Amino acid sequence: MNQYKGFNANLALEAALATEKAAIAASYMVGRGDEKAADKEAVDALRTALNAMDITGRIVIGEGERDEAPMLYIGEEVGTKNGPGIDIALDPLEGTTLTAKAMANALAVMAFAPKGQMLYAPDVYMDKIAIGPGFEPGIVDLDKSPADNARALAKAKGISVENLTVCVLDRTRHSPIIDELRSVKARVLLITDGDVQGVINTTDPDTQVDMYIGQGGAPEGVLAAAALQCVGGQMQGRLHFRNDVEVGRARRVGIDDLDIKYDLDGLCAGPAIFVATGVTPGSLVDGVRFKNGRVTTETLVMNSIDRSVQRLRSDRPV
Ligand code: FBP
Repeated sequence: MNQYKGFNANLALEAALATEKAAIAASYMVGRGDEKAADKEAVDALRTALNAMDITGRIVIGEGERDEAPMLYIGEEVGTKNGPGIDIALDPLEGTTLTAKAMANALAVMAFAPKGQMLYAPDVYMDKIAIGPGFEPGIVDLDKSPADNARALAKAKGISVENLTVCVLDRTRHSPIIDELRSVKARVLLITDGDVQGVINTTDPDTQVDMYIGQGGAPEGVLAAAALQCVGGQMQGRLHFRNDVEVGRARRVGIDDLDIKYDLDGLCAGPAIFVATGVTPGSLVDGVRFKNGRVTTETLVMNSIDRSVQRLRSDRPV
């Protein structure tokens, strides 16, 4: 019996319609050099779409705290309230800079879970490690060095470390990780932004990404964990605080132990739904395209209920 009444696979398709709208709205701002305006377009569209859904939704990961985010702030209630209670994690525009600069891999991303199943991650950094499905639990670990993790994963895959590719955000803070991985001859795939996609790529052999390591946004960590909960894989994350203001954000969402190493279930226990629509073309999904008065979108739709992964291509009049 489904203990989470109303939390079913149909919801995933409805969620996909919402991120499609956000992606289309943001696409008008591709290449215009204005991150904030692009984000606002996506936020407005996603909020309107969510409010039309028959859910009793609550944003648990959103655009920030109420005083700094007028819309889709943490704690905001969305939906018609004629439906199941859903916790919502979202990033209406994952890759604001990518959008502003018309670069690949910008997405509109959202995850649903029944109340209390996702970590209420504050807007701080998170140290993350992730690999795809099919490995013994615990073969990689945040508390091991990047070199040890690379060796362990290569061994489990039956390949040499030279043939292992690790995705890392291209940031100065990651220089020690990058140097260490290169010192054991692993390939390092540097991305400028978008670590939700970096993590998800570890689950798809076509991307050639074996492992994701590094520090990115904690909200993005929970979104990526929702995706892994649907397709399998391992992930760990630990919050990283740079100052007391950030510690305060954690305390406000009820986190007292600041050093917890969260595993996949700790980040998102499931059941979960994950949807991501491409804004610009990317390795996960294609971007929004306009042709002959019509607009085409591609959305990755996953749910852990039946462990399905769908690629939804929609084409409609502009
Ligand atoms: P935006 O959508 O805000 O542009 O964030 C993109 C992103 O690259 C995330 O994917 C990642 O988790 C985070 O920023 C990394 O933060 P920083 O740019 O501060 O290193």
